[in-house]
Amino acid sequence: MFKQKICCIGAGYVGGPTMAMIAEKCPHIRVEVVDINEKRIAAWNSDTLPVYEPGLQEIVERNRGKNLFFGTGVEDAIREADIIFVSVGTPTKTYGHGAGRAADLCYIESAARMIARCAKGPKIIVEKSTIPVRTAEAIKTILKANSEEGQFQVLSNPEFLAEGTAIDDLLEPDRILIGGEHTEGGQAALQVLVDVYANWVPRERILTTNLWSSELSKLVANAFLAQRISSINSISALCERTEADVDEVARAIGADSRIGPKFLKASVGFGGSCFQKDLLNLVYLCEHFGLPEVAEYWDQVVKINDWQKSRFAQNIVQALFNTVIGKKVAILGYAFKKDTNDTREAAAGYVCRDLLEEGAQLSIYDPQVKLEGVTQHLLYLGVSQETIDKQVHIAESAEESTKEAHAAAILTEWDEFKTLDWASIYQQMLKPALLFDGRNILPVEETRKLGFDFRPIGKG
Ligand code: UDX
Ligand code: UDX
Ligand code: ADP
Repeated sequence: MFKQKICCIGAGYVGGPTMAMIAEKCPHIRVEVVDINEKRIAAWNSDTLPVYEPGLQEIVERNRGKNLFFGTGVEDAIREADIIFVSVGTPTKTYGHGAGRAADLCYIESAARMIARCAKGPKIIVEKSTIPVRTAEAIKTILKANSEEGQFQVLSNPEFLAEGTAIDDLLEPDRILIGGEHTEGGQAALQVLVDVYANWVPRERILTTNLWSSELSKLVANAFLAQRISSINSISALCERTEADVDEVARAIGADSRIGPKFLKASVGFGGSCFQKDLLNLVYLCEHFGLPEVAEYWDQVVKINDWQKSRFAQNIVQALFNTVIGKKVAILGYAFKKDTNDTREAAAGYVCRDLLEEGAQLSIYDPQVKLEGVTQHLLYLGVSQETIDKQVHIAESAEESTKEAHAAAILTEWDEFKTLDWASIYQQMLKPALLFDGRNILPVEETRKLGFDFRPIGKG
């Protein structure tokens, strides 16, 4: 009854939403998302999806059980599919050669081996996960060593969606990028995938390249985006010393059409699963290919980001007379950006870690991240369970979090923080009431008028 079958290995932040959109737009295609993590699959089949994204729940509910399925039967799904997306995680390596920088490809490799073992007949394998350039080579080697000539075609199709806006990005992508080999089989496979996206994406936005350009473009796109943030964040520090206003500077430079207005928002630092990981990966690749100057250039983007996060925490400590021991500090927002429950590399985590080391009592409120998410992330950053138990409290509201606090810090730009009753929050805080805006979402003059000692980013 279905014209085509797609299987996606990996039901994470990328695989889940992307496949839901393909199912929504291609009723003639059967889409099955598989994962070895049973809990995650159970969540995809429940009313509480494992990923929070505006609009996602509706799309999943509309298509689940029709042409969209979530399961743990990885091998069966591989056997049946015409197209297999590989969307497993590629975290930074934590051990051995390249630790802390290179991408760990163990999940990719195990997925490739599983495909080689189970697949019968011709299959198109699509790399969806972000991977270092020339990964397709490794995938191809594993597949070819275990198959008949021409059985597998490997394509690269990196995903550019941003969390929090995944559904909009998937609906109307700036571009879809597909890389394939310049062979007859490679080009035919490429056309099959182009035809899937052409069900809703205008053809001129579907770019096709060779495999290596496609793989590399994903890393470079993220590196350029992150570089803009580190650039404006570095200037935020200069603004603080010179009475320039970083938001005014961003507006002024962004008006130049050669620069453009997006991704110039100064902040406490970028987070998320991609930017730092991909930058480190790019740095590692440049070194690997004998380009230390290029490696150093991109490494600086990460260093400025680390500095921005620690500078923010230091500023809080300094403003509280160089000691925060036993002082209550309200943390407003923990997710790495608004409209997501994702904490991976969240700047808030690093700020909290530094404040905890200084002995602060933290009262954390985030609309989507609760105790489990915060605890997991802080443990990952090396904070002990004992410290978390003693010094971290999860509040149910911004009001509860700020009550009798010495200072409050906005670390995620959730919309609801803009419309809080800041006058009454001021009343219930200890004085002087320090308010740090790590996202520059509150108006400076009005907030100061309420009585706050208000400290936005990059405003003298
Ligand atoms: C620059 C700024 O563009 C302008 O806004 C400012 O007022 C003065 O400095 P200019 O130096 O005259 O203007 O020329 P521009 O077009 O910016 O080029 C500068 C150099 O960059 C040239 O050598 C050009 O060849 C080079 N360039 C520019 C590149 O190598 N690649 C590019 O993509 C763009
Ligand atoms: C990013 C890329 O945007 C996306 O194309 C890619 O597929 C995955 O990585 P994501 O990490 O989900 O997406 O979110 P993004 O909106 O890019 O934000 C990343 C971080 O940068 C967040 O912490 C955000 O708060 C921060 N940021 C973003 C700024 O500090 N200032 C800005 O101007 C923009
Ligand atoms: P991303 O943000 O790239 O989507 P996630 O870590 O959220 O990354 O998701 C990757 C998913 O891939 C995880 O749920 C993990 O369990 C799954 N996964 C990893 N290896 C395999 C495998 N060999 N077979 C099936 N699923 C896998």
